[in-house]
Amino acid sequence: MALYVIGDTHLSLGSDKPMDVFGGGWEGYVEKLSAGFQAVEPQDTVVLCGDLSWGMSLEQARPDFAFLDALPGRKLLLKGNHDYWWTTASKMNAFFAENGFTTLHILHNNCYFYRETALCGTRGWFYEEEQSGHNEKVFRRELIRLEASLKAAGEHEKLCFLHYPPCYQGYTCPEILELMERYGVKACYYGHLHGGSHRLAFNGRRGGIEYRLVSADYLGFRPQIICE
Ligand SMILES: [Fe+2]
Ligand SMILES: [Fe+2]
Repeated sequence: MALYVIGDTHLSLGSDKPMDVFGGGWEGYVEKLSAGFQAVEPQDTVVLCGDLSWGMSLEQARPDFAFLDALPGRKLLLKGNHDYWWTTASKMNAFFAENGFTTLHILHNNCYFYRETALCGTRGWFYEEEQSGHNEKVFRRELIRLEASLKAAGEHEKLCFLHYPPCYQGYTCPEILELMERYGVKACYYGHLHGGSHRLAFNGRRGGIEYRLVSADYLGFRPQIICE
């Protein structure tokens, strides 16, 4: 049994936005993901850190969910800024059940457990959101979601998964860092950064928390193992 993480699969099997056009690492990315998941066993858990599908609705994203569901392991899905198909947890869970996508689970206002470790998370907040007009209500809601997830973990050791990087070269989100530090989060994994932005990512220790970028193109489309 092992725990893995990867973000930003950006699948487009039911819509018309294949990432291959970006060339470089993205060429053949769906096949690379399939190959990258070969190390994962059915009893393993993989946290998917958002930007999962370009589908504009659950229906349009269905082939992407079918692809993810067919990959080995239990997958915990987090929302990214491009997951336009995201709706209420009850609608998503009902859709997964109707389609027999038994390995897909929504990480939203809740937490899951891997052995004794709690897996917490939410989409997070990034300076790009501020540039497009700081929306205090959306920001506060993200903090509430993160705290709800951390609270659900109780006294268990906590890992935190975000889509947006909470710290980045020249940027930090102090409210999110404070929450994670207050709840004793051990490590934080995030995605969202691609291509040239990789070099601006923060990978390392800060305030007692270990930070790691895990976007798919950064990882070479192979889920990163966290622990066994
Ligand atoms: Fe992304
Ligand atoms: Fe993103």
